[in-house]
Order: sequence, then structure tokens, then C-alpha cells
Amino acid sequence: MCGIVGSNGRLQAPGFLLNGLERLEYRGYDSAGIAVIDGGRLDVVKTDGRISTLIEKTDGGRSLGGSIGIGHTRWATHGAPGIRNAHPHLSADGRFAAVHNGIIENYVELRRELTDEGYKFVSETDTEVIPQLIQKYYNGDLPAAVRAAVNRLEGSFALGIISTEHPDELIAVRRFSPLLIGVGDGTNYIASDVTALIERTRSVIYLEDDDIAVIKPDRIEIRDKNGCAAERQITRINWDVGAAEKGGFDHFMMKEIAEQPRALRQTIDARVRGREIFFEGISLDAEKLSRIRKINIVACGSAYHAGVVGKYVFEELLRIPTEPDIASEFRYRNPICDENTLTVILSQSGETADTLAAMNEAKAKGSHTLAIVNVVGSSIAKAADDVIYTWAGPEIAVATTKGYTTQLAVLYLFAIWAARLLKTAPESETERLFDGLIAVPEQVEEIIGSKTEQLKKLAKQVGAPEALFFIGRNTDYAIALEGSLKLKEISYVHSEAYAAGELKHGTIALIEPGRTVVALACCDRLFDKLMSNIREVRARGAHIIGCATEGSTAIENEADEVIRIPKIHPLLTPCLEVVPFQIFAYYVALYKGCDIDKPRNLAKSVTVE
Ligand code: G6P
Repeated sequence: MCGIVGSNGRLQAPGFLLNGLERLEYRGYDSAGIAVIDGGRLDVVKTDGRISTLIEKTDGGRSLGGSIGIGHTRWATHGAPGIRNAHPHLSADGRFAAVHNGIIENYVELRRELTDEGYKFVSETDTEVIPQLIQKYYNGDLPAAVRAAVNRLEGSFALGIISTEHPDELIAVRRFSPLLIGVGDGTNYIASDVTALIERTRSVIYLEDDDIAVIKPDRIEIRDKNGCAAERQITRINWDVGAAEKGGFDHFMMKEIAEQPRALRQTIDARVRGREIFFEGISLDAEKLSRIRKINIVACGSAYHAGVVGKYVFEELLRIPTEPDIASEFRYRNPICDENTLTVILSQSGETADTLAAMNEAKAKGSHTLAIVNVVGSSIAKAADDVIYTWAGPEIAVATTKGYTTQLAVLYLFAIWAARLLKTAPESETERLFDGLIAVPEQVEEIIGSKTEQLKKLAKQVGAPEALFFIGRNTDYAIALEGSLKLKEISYVHSEAYAAGELKHGTIALIEPGRTVVALACCDRLFDKLMSNIREVRARGAHIIGCATEGSTAIENEADEVIRIPKIHPLLTPCLEVVPFQIFAYYVALYKGCDIDKPRNLAKSVTVE
């Protein structure tokens, strides 16, 4: 989820590349670089800092010439942030340069193959195999070499490619990762987001998967995946810059909700080959896992709520006692953990002060630490024994959405992987879960597409209540916690989540006529119990919004409104169930006129205690 730009034409390239990257910096900002061809020579400038450093290094682009070039601002996935891993990456012979968004899933095999053939690699990235493959297949025809190279790639990519052999051709290609062409007057452009283009042109072409475009100053030729000439429509963009940054959404939060299917696909697919699950570079193996007697899951905020889901999933599949813990509590409690304990650290930012301190506490006690983190090279990622990245891409809205769901995805992947190794769950069960997990991104897409209107209406109906309650049991309770937090943090509506079975022990005293209770009833096994709880609050006049899977009809007799999620393996329901409540919270906050992306008193990354 980095940013790509490129240009070819009458106008000098460096100025546009730097300006375009500045506009894309919100998408990734740990390093950046540009490559231009000037007088047949490829000039590459990179920085391990912000675009402003790149601007300084090139005197605002004036120290470089050339009318064709590519640029990239990086959000690290493979390899730590730094100049070595910054794009553009070059082929070993220096004739081909590429910038890349996305993840190449089979890069390890490709790198091995190319290394065996004598190609030297300088970075740790998955991207570097691309220019190397182009060099390998180059036979005088650049688009043909690019086609041969991308035919070898698995995963998602948007690429910008230039070559000293063809200083008049800028190549663009995409698969499952956005890339568009800006159509100018004598200069044409590419960018991963329209934001980078709108100062130069508002006429754009959206490429389709596996299209390869050859972009010249006055001509754009597109070929589809079969190599046939393809006509793609020119679209006129009317957005202003602010709207463009948000991909046309009014807020980053909604953009990030909508990005979840892609973020989940990226997180899941990159770890799966056939039916196998792989975590690149982690040291945990069957032998180490078999010594684990207890699992701590330590985190703050929404990440902690993902940990609560993790407890149910791990205990069910691994039969190892699992404690989700709030990092600020864990760190000061003299927690019980030792070399037979696995401490799983969940953090989107990888910088939360309490989470980092809790991890260090666990490490000091001899526990193996496994961090599930979104930001590569963050403090937690660096200090943990093992890291699995969530690859959700940069998250800008303070209230996490795709950060949270991708944490869930990794927890499930890990649990299925470990259960297979330890043989702690029946094979039929892990296989059903595996199939279910693979289908999650599509089902999330379905929910976003089909439920938003209903949730908008519900939010309008609910208005600005004095208080609202979420109830649920088991994994429904875990989602009650997260649904309630989403609502309160962005809409400032007082909201609480309760384990439904606890209602009678105090909370029910708060139920009065007209009070809204969100009853989560997706957990099949406890459906009847939850129905009884609904009846209890309904008898006291509560207005019930139920959430259930498709096909469970009994809830219709008890709830005033029902939100349906698609049928899925019962243990996986949290991945879907949370999505309607992200959307619900968004609209409650919108109708109240709240500052959705930057809620009062909250910070995206809490780096102080
Ligand atoms: C802040 C954010 C939350 C996040 C929590 C933990 O409170 O607003 O959205 O869940 O920090 O952050 P982390 O980066 O460690 O996941």
C-alpha cells in the first residue's frame, strides 16, 4: 500500500514525480525514491526519510533532468525501512527500474531461482525480483519482457517500469492493486491514486487486472492479459484534492472500512500456498510450540479486543489456556509467564508504549514473544522474537477498522497453522476453518455492499442516545466490546459492552423503556441463551437491534431490527460481525456531526504511558 507515480512526455519528470509523491505521502512514508532517464542514463535518488528529504537532495528536482521517470513512497512490507529497500529497484545490469505496490507471494522461490542463475540482489524486498525477471526475459521488446515477467508473479502488484533501452516507453501493469494512467497534453502519467495526478490532469484511465500499458508522450497502448489491444475508457475526475486523498470517500475511516476486503486478501493470500499456511521467517515450530503451556495475548484498545477473539479461537483449536490482557495492566502485575509461555503482542502501530513495555516484561521473564503488527520496522516489530505482519497498509483514521480485522485474520491463520502442527483439533475442523477464512474477504465485501443502506437508516433512527448497550456471549461478546468501543470513540455516545450472562448481576438495572440494546446473536451454540437475555431486556422496554447469521429466523420475533451477516463457520463469525458495527458507528457519528477521523482527546498511536 505504497504510492507510485510516473511520467513520460514533454514536461520534465522530476518536478512531477516529487510533487506527486508528496501528495501520496499519507499512503506510506518510511522511505522514497525516484528514477529518471536523462541522456540515456538512469539516475536514481532515494531517501530513508520523508519526501521533503528527497526534495532537498535533488534541489526540488532541479539537479536531475529527464522527461521520463518513476517514483515511489514506501510503506514497508518485506524488509525494514531504509535506503537499501526503498524503490525504485533495479535489475542487476542496471538497465531496468521498477516501482511496485502490493506483495509478490512467490518471491522467495523466484529469488532463489534468479540467484542460482547468477543474479545479484541488493535489497530484502519482494519487489527486486521484478526488474531481475525483466532483465532475464528481455530480448529487445520491453512490453514482451514485462509480460513474461509478470506471468511468473503470484500476488498483487501495480508496477511502473522504465528502461535505458527504451527511453521513450513508460510501462504500467497491474493485478489486484490500483493503478491509473493520467492522460495529459504531450505528457502522460501513471499513479496509484488519483491524488497524485489532479494538478496535471483530470482525465484518467483505470487499468484492469493484467493490463499492460505502454505510455509514450503522445500515445497510450494497452494490451489485456491475452495480449490483445484493449480500449479503456477515459474518466473525468471532478474531486478536489481532499476528496481524492480519501479515494472519493468523505472520511478516511469509511475509505479504510471499504479497503478491508483488499487488506484481508493481502494478509491471508500471501501466507497461503495451496492449502498450506506459511509464515516467512518465524522461529516458532512444532517443537517449540509443543512446549507452550499458556498463551498471553497482550494489547491495548481495539487490538486488545482482537485478543479477546483470539482467546476463544486459540482455546478451541489449540486447547492451551489463553489470557487476553490489557497491556497497561499486564506490565505492572508481575504476570505469570516463563519459557513455557507464548506472549502474543497485538499492535497496529507497533509503537504503543504500554504494549511495548508489556512485551519487554514478558521477554524478561523468558517468554517467547510473537508480535502481530502492521507497521514494518516499528519498535514492537523490531524487539519481538517473531513477527507476523498484518499488511493492512497505512491506517489514517484514529479509530481502527482494517487494522483490527487484519489482526483477526492473522490470529486465525496462526491458530489453524499451530493446530495442524500440534494436531490439537480434528483435521476436518481445521480444514473447514481454512476454507471459511479464505472466503472471509469476499463476505466482508458483500456486507459492505449490501448492508450499508440498512445501517445508515438504523443510525439515523438511533440518533444521539444518552446511552446504548451491546450484549453477547463468547465471540459475540468479543465483538460487543469492539462494536461498543467504535461507537463511543467516534460518536461520543455512552456505550457499554456486557457479557450477556452478566446482565442479571447489575447491568439490567440500567435498562429502561426506549434504551437501545444491540444484541449479538451470531454464536449458534449459545443462540437460545442469548434469546433469553434479549427477552429479559425487552420485557423492560428496551429497543433491540439484533445481529444474526442468515437463516436464523427466531431472532425476528424478539428484535425490532435485525442485521444479517452471511453464514460462516461459527468460530469465524467475528471477522464478519464487526463490520456492520464499524459502519453503524460511522453513521451515528456522521449524523451527530462529529470529527470522525480525529475524534476528540484520542490519538492514533499512544506512544506515552
Ligand atoms: C489507540 C487507537 C486504537 C488502537 C489502540 C492500540 O487508542 O486509537 O484504535 O486500538 O491505540 O493501538 P495499536 O497501534 O497498539 O494497535
